[in-house]
Amino acid sequence: MTRRTLLALTALLVVARGGVVVAAANANEDACAVIGGKKWVHPKQARDCLNTFPVDPFVKANTIEVLNKTLAFHTSVNYQIQAPPPFQNDVKEDLVADLARIASKDDYGSEFELHLDLFRTFKRVNDGHCAVINYCYDSLYISYLPTPLVLLTQPDGEQNVFIAPEAFDVASAEFGEEIEFWQNALPGELKGQLQSLSGARVLLIDGQDPFIAVNKNALITGSYQSFGTRQNSFFASYYRGDKGWLYSMGNFAQQTHPLTDSVELTIMRNNSSGIDVITLPYRSRFGSQSKNFTDSASYRANNCVATNTTNGYDLYDYFSSASEEATATPTPNSLTYAQQQPLLNPSDVRRHPLNVLLDASPLTDIDLPEEMQPSNLTEALNSSYSVAQFYLMEDNKTGVLALGSFSAPNFTMFQNSLLDGLVELREKGARRLIVDVTNNGGGYICIAHWLHRIIIGPKKSTEPQAGLDTSLRASPLAQLIVSKIIDIEEQDGADPKNLLLYNPTQWTNASHVPFGRGENWLKPLRELEVNGKKDVFSQRLGQECQPFDMNPPDEGLFEPENVVIMSNGRCASSCSLFSITMSKLEGVRTIVVGGKHGVTQQYCGTVGGQSTDFSTIDTEIKSVKLKNHTFAPPDLLGNIVQGITWRLGFGINDKEEPEEWQEHTADINYPLTVETVNQPVALWEAISRDVFQSSHRFVVQSS
Ligand SMILES: *[C@@H]1O[C@H](CO)[C@@H](O)[C@H](O)[C@H]1NC(C)=O
Ligand SMILES: *[C@@H]1O[C@H](CO)[C@@H](O)[C@H](O)[C@H]1NC(C)=O
Ligand SMILES: *[C@@H]1O[C@H](CO)[C@@H](O)[C@H](O)[C@H]1NC(C)=O
Ligand SMILES: *[C@@H]1O[C@H](CO)[C@@H](O)[C@H](O)[C@H]1NC(C)=O
Ligand SMILES: *[C@@H]1O[C@H](CO)[C@@H](O)[C@H](O)[C@H]1NC(C)=O
Ligand SMILES: *[C@@H]1O[C@H](CO)[C@@H](O)[C@H](O)[C@H]1NC(C)=O
Ligand SMILES: *[C@@H]1O[C@H](CO)[C@@H](O)[C@H](O)[C@H]1NC(C)=O
Ligand SMILES: *[C@@H]1O[C@H](CO)[C@@H](O)[C@H](O)[C@H]1NC(C)=O
Ligand SMILES: *[C@@H]1O[C@H](CO)[C@@H](O)[C@H](O)[C@H]1NC(C)=O
Ligand SMILES: *[C@@H]1O[C@H](CO)[C@@H](O)[C@H](O)[C@H]1NC(C)=O
Ligand SMILES: *[C@@H]1O[C@H](CO)[C@@H](O)[C@H](O)[C@H]1NC(C)=O
Repeated sequence: MTRRTLLALTALLVVARGGVVVAAANANEDACAVIGGKKWVHPKQARDCLNTFPVDPFVKANTIEVLNKTLAFHTSVNYQIQAPPPFQNDVKEDLVADLARIASKDDYGSEFELHLDLFRTFKRVNDGHCAVINYCYDSLYISYLPTPLVLLTQPDGEQNVFIAPEAFDVASAEFGEEIEFWQNALPGELKGQLQSLSGARVLLIDGQDPFIAVNKNALITGSYQSFGTRQNSFFASYYRGDKGWLYSMGNFAQQTHPLTDSVELTIMRNNSSGIDVITLPYRSRFGSQSKNFTDSASYRANNCVATNTTNGYDLYDYFSSASEEATATPTPNSLTYAQQQPLLNPSDVRRHPLNVLLDASPLTDIDLPEEMQPSNLTEALNSSYSVAQFYLMEDNKTGVLALGSFSAPNFTMFQNSLLDGLVELREKGARRLIVDVTNNGGGYICIAHWLHRIIIGPKKSTEPQAGLDTSLRASPLAQLIVSKIIDIEEQDGADPKNLLLYNPTQWTNASHVPFGRGENWLKPLRELEVNGKKDVFSQRLGQECQPFDMNPPDEGLFEPENVVIMSNGRCASSCSLFSITMSKLEGVRTIVVGGKHGVTQQYCGTVGGQSTDFSTIDTEIKSVKLKNHTFAPPDLLGNIVQGITWRLGFGINDKEEPEEWQEHTADINYPLTVETVNQPVALWEAISRDVFQSSHRFVVQSS
């Protein structure tokens, strides 16, 4: 009998007897006690702790029931069974069938194995809104290498993978003393010479062409439909955060689970013609959102059970027990750690719907090296705020808006800043605009509409609708929630304070006329057949952003032909709403930087329309007193977040089908070089020179 089976059996016995999961009979065998309180551990040590716990059939059934019943609110379940071209090879996952498979599989070696199956199954829909994240396992320990990779193109067009030129600067600043571990792990004469690996050409990863590893990662990283974008996720990139310029290590050098112990790299260092073969161990660092523990019991208690924000709550209970001035969610919802945007003010979030990516790793907080930061090279305009930074290039003609998110801590200040910054650029003489949305995971829907409207001016395509019309899924329980709310004759309805998502007063019809309080806004229903399955959606809905809270200018601020939107392809959700409308309706050019030759680069992914999660849906259900309904998901027992797409945007070219799986091929694929990679100012200057002055150092893609 192996030690793990023995542990599992012991634990099962304990569960059977006391209902409390305790992993081992004595502390000597407690793999979590071995690492408890340690910041850095070997991946295997973290894995041993995570793998200690057997599947609890009761918790498993609870999780699957919640996931399955919440999927009824996710717009895309049936579409994702088989997406149309160009994504026919990228999205073909039947989540309902998958859950049935997982429910009946009873030989998972541990609860961690079960979670990995759920996690990866959901990742395979390549939809950044639809995710299952368990804080017990995801990013509890994050595994790192000190060698983030980049893909560089030489002047003759040849492409190679390199260890990022800035690798050592980033790693030594971020990992501090721990860098010694890797210094000592290097073989022979390289011992202590980690710095000399920066800029090395990577010939092989684990003995194979680097793109074998890149493509393997593209199959599990998720979040973007396009294969090219998922390839790009492997590599390091930059990100404009709320407080500064940040560095994203990429999936090679940063992993959500402690599954890999080491990697073998065959490299040619920058100043040498010889070839070195090195084995670099991964190190796992305790996650920034993980809760301290000392042994398996405290690990489980602190990280693995539902918290007071895992599930929803009855808003009317809350309001009757608290002052009306109080914000509805006093502590950050556990969902917020997974949202790929800065932490927001809860009162803003209640008033302004979001469309934002969820991921298992919190947003990066690793700094971009100071000398690579735009603020080191050029002064940001005074109108800049948080994730929105404005710069005037040296030619005095090109302005840059670096926009890391469509959310910022103060909605009003953010909306103001976008207008003021663009006006300030114009006043300083800028007539061309580069909008850099690298790694922008979306955010406030109405900020996307606002930015489109103020850049372009008042037109049929910007007023009143500057985004996409949408429709939501009208599952039986969703219809019941609406009937409870619109039943205003008898008792004023189930939502007299107009707080709920399913309240008609929040939304408008396809002519952008707001619904009345008693109106069944889902109807007339659209009864569809999607991939052979019957499905029901609401009528087509319009926009709810306009009139905006502040007045937009009477004229556009930049001519569409003088605007380009650039990114590494990782632009999603509200970022997609913005880029798609700017590209398809206004003819603004889109640029993807980096990416493998011959692979189509899409300028955005994961469109959605509005995203939400289980806890929000649960709040709706509880507030209208439908929690006892057979279709209502029970409360989650685990420390889990489930994200979904709640409203899905209609297409621009094919108007009756979702925009989600329509083509978003970038106009230009722009190569990265050692002079521009992860150096935003150098990149903007190169793009301004090559794209606005039309020399031809880039690939024009045709769709
Ligand atoms: C999921 O829900 C569907 C109904 O939508 C049901 O037919 C199916 O059996 C459920 N699957 C599981 C694993 O409970
Ligand atoms: C070049 O490589 C040698 C070892 O071959 C090393 O001692 C030296 O520091 C490297 N120089 C640079 C600039 O990386
Ligand atoms: C190699 O070193 C040279 C000289 O220091 C530098 O200019 C170049 O950018 C380096 N290449 C890479 C890929 O880091
Ligand atoms: C968790 O442990 C770390 C290191 O031991 C300590 O710095 C930190 O304050 C602890 N956090 C809490 C919430 O106890
Ligand atoms: C949730 O629990 C935390 C402590 O774990 C506490 O500070 C917070 O007030 C609680 N929030 C609610 C809504 O009960
Ligand atoms: C730019 O970065 C360098 C290197 O970190 C630093 O010494 C210098 O002070 C920075 N300059 C500005 C203007 O921030
Ligand atoms: C920002 O405002 C300060 C003070 O008014 C001024 O000195 C500075 O030049 C301004 N910066 C820019 C980039 O306009
Ligand atoms: C841009 O404007 C600044 C300040 O007005 C001026 O000093 C500089 O020469 C101008 N640059 C160009 C290329 O015109
Ligand atoms: C946001 O900023 C505005 C303007 O400065 C201020 O009036 C408002 O109170 C702020 N909102 C929040 C939620 O802090
Ligand atoms: C929207 O509502 C208005 C007012 O009821 C109505 O006149 C209009 O026809 C509706 N538009 C659609 C597309 O249903
Ligand atoms: C659900 O049903 C139980 C038993 O009938 C009842 O006690 C409870 O109040 C109900 N809960 C809700 C939210 O309706």
